[in-house]
Amino acid sequence: MFLLSPINKKANITHERGSNVVYLCMEFSELIKLRQSVRKYTDQSVEREKITACLEAARLAPSANNSQPWKFIVVDDPELKNRVADCTASLGMNKFTYQAPVIVVVVLEKENLFSSLGGKVKDKIFCHYDVGLAVGQFCLQAAELGLGTCIIGWFHEKKIRKLLNISKNRRIPLIISLGYSEASVREKNRKPIDEISSWNAYKN
Ligand SMILES: Cc1cc2nc3c(=O)[nH]c(=O)nc-3n(C[C@H](O)[C@H](O)[C@H](O)COP(=O)(O)O)c2cc1C
Repeated sequence: MFLLSPINKKANITHERGSNVVYLCMEFSELIKLRQSVRKYTDQSVEREKITACLEAARLAPSANNSQPWKFIVVDDPELKNRVADCTASLGMNKFTYQAPVIVVVVLEKENLFSSLGGKVKDKIFCHYDVGLAVGQFCLQAAELGLGTCIIGWFHEKKIRKLLNISKNRRIPLIISLGYSEASVREKNRKPIDEISSWNAYKN
């Protein structure tokens, strides 16, 4: 179930012709308020078309030198998904992954030569930023489709690698839980804008 809140009442609901994909078609400023970490899911399964739309949003993300250093493994087989959930839930964290019908495992692929050389010269690891942007776009697209996500960084990487046959030389920076949200939309808890920004000079 998708809970309408004062924030998303304004959304227009449109159907993609000939498919199950329903876009809420809202202002971007509304969408970014609607996207939140969802830790409570219904047991409704997620249509593959909608997951594909989220993958498409991630695919279109910018990356340093257009390197696109990512792969997304969609785990929607219930038994396998619960085995991935086993790898995320520890010390009281991330139990909601058992509830989420889908888990997407993000694999960091090799950057292209220009991106890695540029990163070495500038002492930056561009591919990490790239993955963050792609994951962000995935989650925003999910929100527009009425889906909830949670970006997860706390998991047993080695066990997931083994479970999904991911080679040892690949890192798993993040995973994403995905499903229909059972949580209502919260106000954002964020630092004030003048604490995080300044004009024309750095401000302490
Ligand atoms: C890189 C990253 C790792 C995160 N890891 C986890 C996690 O392991 N478990 C979890 O419940 N939330 C995790 N989160 C979600 C954050 O806690 C959440 O984004 C933040 O508190 C802001 O709340 P909001 O997403 O609802 O706006 C992660 C978010 C990011 C960006």
